[in-house]
Amino acid sequence: MRFSTLAMAAAAASGVVAQEDTSLCGKYTTALLMNNTAENQYMLLQLLVNRVVTGATQEQVSNGSAVPGILAPGNVNGTDVNLLPYFDGSLASTNRNGEAVSVNFLADGGATPLTASPPKPANSTDSPQYYLLTHLYSFFGALLQCQVGSDGFPAYEGNPSMAKVHMFMALTNAENTYFIQQVGAAAVSFGVTMDDVSTVAEALVSTFNYRCSPAAKIVGDMEELQSICQAEDCPLSPNANCDAYPNSGAVSSPTPTPSGSAAMTPTGGSSPTNTGAASTLTYSAGAGVAGLIAAIFAL
Ligand code: HEM
Ligand SMILES: *[C@@H]1O[C@H](CO)[C@@H](O)[C@H](O)[C@H]1NC(C)=O
Ligand SMILES: *[C@@H]1O[C@H](CO)[C@@H](O)[C@H](O)[C@H]1NC(C)=O
Ligand SMILES: *[C@@H]1O[C@H](CO)[C@@H](O)[C@H](O)[C@H]1NC(C)=O
Ligand SMILES: *[C@@H]1O[C@H](CO)[C@@H](O)[C@H](O)[C@H]1NC(C)=O
Repeated sequence: MRFSTLAMAAAAASGVVAQEDTSLCGKYTTALLMNNTAENQYMLLQLLVNRVVTGATQEQVSNGSAVPGILAPGNVNGTDVNLLPYFDGSLASTNRNGEAVSVNFLADGGATPLTASPPKPANSTDSPQYYLLTHLYSFFGALLQCQVGSDGFPAYEGNPSMAKVHMFMALTNAENTYFIQQVGAAAVSFGVTMDDVSTVAEALVSTFNYRCSPAAKIVGDMEELQSICQAEDCPLSPNANCDAYPNSGAVSSPTPTPSGSAAMTPTGGSSPTNTGAASTLTYSAGAGVAGLIAAIFAL
C-alpha cells in the first residue's frame, strides 16, 4: 500500500537495529527516541495512538497546537461529530461474532494510563481497553512499517478485516474523516512533517474511507474487506464491490453532541485530558483530502 512507497533517508544513528530503515516508523523513532529499536518503535506508537485517543492540551504539546483527540466532539465540513458513544458503551455498535453489542472500551483506567509516563494501554492487561489499544499500536505500527512481530513490538492480534470490526458502527464520512484528522493532528504535535502527515492521511482515506472497497490484504495473510466508512455518504470506491458487503443492519449514528458539551466523561475512567478543547478542528466544505490536510495544519 501507499505507506510503503515513502522512502525517507533515515538519520544516521549508531548502535541501532535497522541500518537502512527508510520507513516513517524508523524515521520518527530516530527523531524522537534516538535509538531505532523495536522497543522504541513500540514506544513511539504508544505515544502516538494514546494521544490520538486522549488528545493533548496546548501545554502538553511543545511544538504547536492542542490536539482534541477522537473522544472530543468536533465538526467536519459543517457536520458535528461525536465518536465517544462508540467507545464508552453507549451504543451497541461493537461486532462480537456477528452480534452488535455494547462494549465500554474506556473502563480500564480511561485516560490515566494512556497519559502516564511511560505510557500504558490500560490499567490491567485483560480488558476491552487493553485489547483495543494494543491492537491499535500494532495495526498502525504495521501501516507505518514498524518492526511489528519482532521482539519488543507485538504482532497484531485483532480482526484483520476493518470492515467487520466497524460494520455495526455505520460510520459516516464526517466521523471517519474526524478520526483521520485526529491521527494527523497527533502526528503534527510530535513534529511529523506536513509531507509525511499528508502521505499517511491520504493513505488512510484511500484505504478505509471509501464505501464497498474490494478485499485487500493489510495485516495477516488473507485478503479481507477493509472499508471502514460504510454509510451512504461515504464516497464509493472506484473498484466498488458492494455485493461483498452484507447489509449489516447497522445501528444508526448517534445524534452528535454539540461541541463543548459536558457529556464526555468515560464511565469507569478518568476524563480524557482535553475534553471540550477550544481548538475544535473544522474541515472546510468540499475541499477533499487537501481540505483535510489543511484542517490538520490549521489547528
Ligand atoms: C482510518 C480509520 C480507522 C482505522 C484504521 C481503525 C482501526 C481500528 C483497529 C485496528 C481496531 C482494532 C480491531 C480489533 O481489535 O480487532 C479498531 C477498533 C475499533 N474502532 Fe476503529 N479505526 C478507524 C476508524 C474508526 C472510527 C471513525 C471509529 C468511530 C467511532 C472507530 C471505532 C472503533 C471502535 C469502537 C473499535 C473497537 C471495536 C472492537 O473491539 O470490536 N474506528 N479500529
Ligand atoms: C542507545 O543505544 C546505545 C547502545 O545500545 C546505548 O548506549 C544508549 O544509551 C542508547 N540511548 C538511548 C537514548 O536509548
Ligand atoms: C487506574 O489506575 C489509576 C492510577 O493507578 C487509578 O487512579 C484508577 O483508579 C484506576 N482505575 C481503574 C478503573 O482501575
Ligand atoms: C515542529 O514542527 C515543524 C513542522 O510542523 C518541524 O519542522 C519542526 O522540526 C518541529 N520541531 C520540533 C522541535 O519538533
Ligand atoms: C463536504 O461538503 C461538500 C459539499 O456539501 C461535499 O461535496 C464534500 O464531499 C463533503 N466532504 C466531507 C468529507 O464530508
